[in-house]
Amino acid sequence: MSTNSEKFFGSTRLKEQIEALVGELKNAQKSLDKVKSANDPEPYKTYLNHLQTIRGRNLYYPYLGSGMGNGPYVELNDGSVKLDLINGIGIQLFGHGHPELIRAAIRGSLQDVVMQGNLQPNQEYGELLDILIEAAGKKSRLKKGWIGTCGTIVNENALKIARQKNSPARKIIAMENCFAGRSTLMAEITDNAEYRVGLPRYNEVLYLPFFDKKDPQSIQKTVSILQKHIGENPGNIACFVFELLQGEGGFNLAPPEYFKALLDICKMNKIALWADEIQTFSRTGELFAFETLGLGEYIDIVTLAKTAQCGAVLYTEEYNPKPGLIAGTFTASTVSMAVGIQTIKMLLGLDGQKPLVGPEGKIHQIHKKFVSMIEELKNGSCKKIIQEVGGLGLMVAMTPFEGNKEKVAKLLQVLYQNGLIAFTCGHGPYRVRFLLPLVLEDKHIEEAKLILEKSLIEVGEMK
Ligand SMILES: Cc1ncc(COP(=O)(O)O)c(C=O)c1O
Repeated sequence: MSTNSEKFFGSTRLKEQIEALVGELKNAQKSLDKVKSANDPEPYKTYLNHLQTIRGRNLYYPYLGSGMGNGPYVELNDGSVKLDLINGIGIQLFGHGHPELIRAAIRGSLQDVVMQGNLQPNQEYGELLDILIEAAGKKSRLKKGWIGTCGTIVNENALKIARQKNSPARKIIAMENCFAGRSTLMAEITDNAEYRVGLPRYNEVLYLPFFDKKDPQSIQKTVSILQKHIGENPGNIACFVFELLQGEGGFNLAPPEYFKALLDICKMNKIALWADEIQTFSRTGELFAFETLGLGEYIDIVTLAKTAQCGAVLYTEEYNPKPGLIAGTFTASTVSMAVGIQTIKMLLGLDGQKPLVGPEGKIHQIHKKFVSMIEELKNGSCKKIIQEVGGLGLMVAMTPFEGNKEKVAKLLQVLYQNGLIAFTCGHGPYRVRFLLPLVLEDKHIEEAKLILEKSLIEVGEMK
């Protein structure tokens, strides 16, 4: 061993101390094994009111985590325990307080720096890029990458990379109902006027309708709109950005043929193909949704974040940007990258355990069980309430109350009060979104069923 770091992190004494800490934590977590109501609601409410005042607007839910959880359960600061099926909008792939991720986090926290930078990266930086590029490169031409703190920042980097390569082309093709992030330009791409009230428009984006499963002409119609955009903007379209399964837009799915038809035309016109996998990464059955849909060969640029605990943009050799185009002080935090690496190892089975991705993997098993549970409600006690359930892998959504905005918003609050955390997606129909953690077991799905049933009926009976 040549460095002090190798000696320290390889020592048996450190391992024992980490195990002692993880053991302590497991003891403290273990009673968080079912939904429970608050012990002490009043001081919590007072504090939340204060918090909402200083942040200038209410929280979506009256949520303040205590810092402890156990798998799909999370404890709040009022002592209540909730079943968390949204996980910070998809960050906690392994739920709360997973021992393997805690081990990785402890090791990361013992390093010399909390935040790593692009000037002086540590080991995790290389390790994370390596594992991502190796995994992405198996079924695509992606060979290089750049880490960033979050989805929005890596999307900004992706756009700059596409524009630089295809300069002076500037326009962006995107999908109706897409979500791309919250920076000025990502808010411009995001097809939701509510997220850019009062902001100017920059006329940078050309939209295509997403696949409509009810319309047999959907592919042809979208192709002709794409051709029209290309015809009206000769040589001026830098990239086409798409989610392979729309997240915020309503968990909308499309068959590979739909994408192929569009991607072939873009390729012929030298338009960069950029898959935004910020939400789909690690959830659709394979590590990347482009693998699940068999579209890897097309992709020039992919962005990911959320479950990786930081962001990354990966690209082909020909899209490698010139020095100076993308950088920034921060890469990501050491703990984020360490936990991101461990997350990917666990997904791919590089930790010596069974892979969780793949046709027989746990992602598919959880999907089937969770969707069948909702189907049972849909065909049974909630027959008149739930219209649709679907999704892919750990991304599951249902449409209750005909997708009515107010009713769905009410349902989410009632679910929360009854102990289950979910979120919304879609803009008509409005849907209930679940980003399921990979630690869900049958008993959790059973508990979710009871809460869903009770809450759906409760809201159904409201005026
Ligand atoms: C598809 C997609 N793109 C971009 C983003 C933005 O990522 P972040 O919130 O990490 O900036 C999100 C976040 O929800 C997303 O789902």
